[in-house]
Amino acid sequence: MRLRRLQLKNHRNYARLDLSPGPSVNVFIGANGQGKTNLLEAVAMLALSSSPRARREIELVGPAGAGSRIQAEIDTGQSRREISIELDVTGDRAHRAIEVDGARRRAFDLPGHFRVVLFWPDDLGLVKAGPELRRRFLNQMLVQVEPGYARALAGLRRVLEQRNSLLKRMAAEDTGADTLDAWNQELVKVGGEIAAARTRAVAELAPEAARCHAEIASGERLEIEYQGPPENLAEAVNNSLAEDLRRGSTSVGPHRDDIRVLLDGQEARSYASQGQQRTAVVSLKLAEAALIERRAGERPVLLLDDVLSELDGDRRAALLQEVAVGGQVIITSVEAGPFPPDLIAKAMVWTVEAGRIQPCG
Ligand SMILES: Nc1ncnc2c1ncn2[C@@H]1O[C@H](COP(=O)(O)OP(=O)(O)OP(=O)(O)O)[C@@H](O)[C@H]1O
Ligand SMILES: [Mg+2]
Repeated sequence: MRLRRLQLKNHRNYARLDLSPGPSVNVFIGANGQGKTNLLEAVAMLALSSSPRARREIELVGPAGAGSRIQAEIDTGQSRREISIELDVTGDRAHRAIEVDGARRRAFDLPGHFRVVLFWPDDLGLVKAGPELRRRFLNQMLVQVEPGYARALAGLRRVLEQRNSLLKRMAAEDTGADTLDAWNQELVKVGGEIAAARTRAVAELAPEAARCHAEIASGERLEIEYQGPPENLAEAVNNSLAEDLRRGSTSVGPHRDDIRVLLDGQEARSYASQGQQRTAVVSLKLAEAALIERRAGERPVLLLDDVLSELDGDRRAALLQEVAVGGQVIITSVEAGPFPPDLIAKAMVWTVEAGRIQPCG
């Protein structure tokens, strides 16, 4: 899979951009605050339909007008396609319109048309922070390869909203038990689908993540383990009713899932150093790329934002070796220094300055 051409209009600090990246490694060099992360965010949105970092879409729109546009030509193994995401601002809200080859798509129908693996500094929370980022990691991967997963996730969100508000009403008024039954069944159905997909995915990720980590960190042992909902979800949902009514929220289901991350047998969150945690996160992302490639038959585009900082020379070299195994890579850095000359010689190098991108040298 390859991004042939990217055009931005009023996306964050890019007033206008027309970029044709090379087919293999592309290195974007720029000082702080020049637009490196904004660039990767736009590319990631073409795969995921929304920004993984913006809390409100309106944040994405630059100062030059009441809307923005991200447009791209994508090469897949068999065909070329065009994807666009347009935001229109009215008041303090942005309305989003997504098109694939000129036809309107709903947000959950976009993933799968273009596939990426994104690493950016926020992802360090994958090891360090709470379970939400680890669930998001699984979701970002699975919407791109499992047909129906994005829809199941939307279904889960709806069930939880409805069930939680019903629980609160029931606690206050002592009515609604029959409606609850229908939501319980829906929770068990979508919950089961999501948990099954996650179980398969983590089993597939684990050996590849371990291999990558050992390669980059000379032998250090990375283990991951899915912690999903109870096997008999229907029974667990029934048994939790009293507690759910007390809390006014749903205590059992895949919205409580986690992944345990161990380094040399110990919890990575509390035991691993900064550089070790970064290595573990990168290894998980490279394993994600391998899973997507295996499932989809095509390598995703790797988007790596400031991935080399905090790593020592040996880890950098080993990481770049793992990254440059083929396929398109877009990698940013504040300086060219950390990249080995032979990689720079093969790569396309670009400079990023105040929302403008130029080929370098
Ligand atoms: N909606 C917006 N309109 C205009 N500018 C924006 C908007 N959102 C963010 N910016 C600006 O874009 C600039 C570039 O941000 P970006 O995160 O891409 O920098 P960066 O090159 O990744 O820097 P760093 O090396 O520090 O991570 C920032 O100065 C930010 O203020
Ligand atoms: Mg940045």
